[in-house]
Amino acid sequence: MKAVVIYYSLEGNTKFVADKIATYLKADTIRLEPVKEYPKGKASKYIWGGKSVVFGETPKLSSYKFNAENYDTIIIGTPVWASSYAPPIKTFLKENKICGKKVALFACSAGGDASKCFQKFEQELDKNEVAATLSLIDPKVKVTVQNDQDIKEFCQKL
Ligand SMILES: Cc1cc2nc3c(=O)[nH]c(=O)nc-3n(C[C@H](O)[C@H](O)[C@H](O)COP(=O)(O)O)c2cc1C
Repeated sequence: MKAVVIYYSLEGNTKFVADKIATYLKADTIRLEPVKEYPKGKASKYIWGGKSVVFGETPKLSSYKFNAENYDTIIIGTPVWASSYAPPIKTFLKENKICGKKVALFACSAGGDASKCFQKFEQELDKNEVAATLSLIDPKVKVTVQNDQDIKEFCQKL
């Protein structure tokens, strides 16, 4: 199995999980970075990030190398933004048609409910088998043994 972890992370929680998954599965990683990164200020991140989701924006990404043909398993990670995936992921899904792959999704949120985010993901990825999903609450800040266990179980499904 050759796997890749593709993710966006504004404040490091999604990166924290992506790195653990990549280590566990010996997977490649691709960090998606908008050319113009969103602000990290307490209020400004919600204003600019929220607006970007609501308006369905697809921000331009710094160049990245991805060839779906190189992988049979594609793992995508995002922070939950306004109950959806973050706009850089939307750009990625627009730029890359993923078809016939084993797909796994993980999401980091402040509240723990990633169900709507996963629903939206699955609508976009309906030509693939979604083998596993994982939802964690701010895992870089709230480190728990349970999170490590959940990440391991997620990887074992792939
Ligand atoms: C613009 C924006 C919108 C957010 N919307 C939600 C939300 O709808 N539900 C939720 O539980 N957390 C929400 N959050 C919190 C993040 O999903 C959460 O803190 C996540 O762990 C951040 O991941 P990151 O550190 O990889 O950026 C939002 C954060 C931002 C910046």
